[in-house]
Amino acid sequence: MAAQKKTPSTGAPGEGEGTATPLHVAVVMDGNGRWAKQRGLPRSLGHRAGVDALKRTVSAAAELNVRWLTVFGFSTENWSRPAAEVAELMALPKRYFESDIARLEREGVRVRVIGRREGLSDELVKIIEGAQARTAHNDRFFLNIAFNYGGQADIADAARRFAEEVAAGRAKPSDLNEQLFARQLATADSPPPDVIIRPSGEQRLSNFLLWEAAYAELVFQDVLWPDYGAEHLKAALQTFAARDRRYGAVVADDVLAAG
Ligand code: FPP
Repeated sequence: MAAQKKTPSTGAPGEGEGTATPLHVAVVMDGNGRWAKQRGLPRSLGHRAGVDALKRTVSAAAELNVRWLTVFGFSTENWSRPAAEVAELMALPKRYFESDIARLEREGVRVRVIGRREGLSDELVKIIEGAQARTAHNDRFFLNIAFNYGGQADIADAARRFAEEVAAGRAKPSDLNEQLFARQLATADSPPPDVIIRPSGEQRLSNFLLWEAAYAELVFQDVLWPDYGAEHLKAALQTFAARDRRYGAVVADDVLAAG
């Protein structure tokens, strides 16, 4: 499959519009703790089962002709969890890449880990950089893992980078518009998400892709993330396909009716 060259977008009309299959799906992988609790297991085992659900979802997304998948693995707010749980969450990328990076590389998946590197161990940063480098030539499917990521932090970082460009004399304040700003975000290389899915019954974004979510459809599902599989993704995409995306405009029939 050829690469689709995308410029960063503000989520405005255009990309993904009019297609029943979303180009870019984003998922808040929520419910690991509750899944473990229901089974009398430690939360760590819920997170490990969450890695298995991620593997199933990557395969299912590619199978359903999605091209971009962005998943929320660790938020800038998750540092406030107990140290033992943070340590378990920090171990997940290593666990995932050790078992799956060869297959991801072989199957044409390009992996990117978006989020702040500060706070991550040198070993983890090396593992992340290795996984990214190993799959950098791929363009069949794009997997973004948001890790130590927060939408507000990313917007603040983007604003700081633009301010630094201005301070260095490489840009003027009047240059700034939505497109230029989006180029400073961690998601600059991806189209905006068409749909953001949150399983587990919670109905909020929790600081995920705040800028990019401008015109994303939101789909909430009553399944805990470790139980998530192809059938749940398929159901979410069917819900998406039935939505009427207007991007702030009106549909043609209504224009005629307004006459
Ligand atoms: C939120 O559920 C989930 C997380 C904080 C971690 C999500 C991570 C994974 C599913 C695996 C990620 C894999 C990689 C490779 C990074 P929760 O624990 O808050 O669940 P709860 O709301 O039921 O307590």
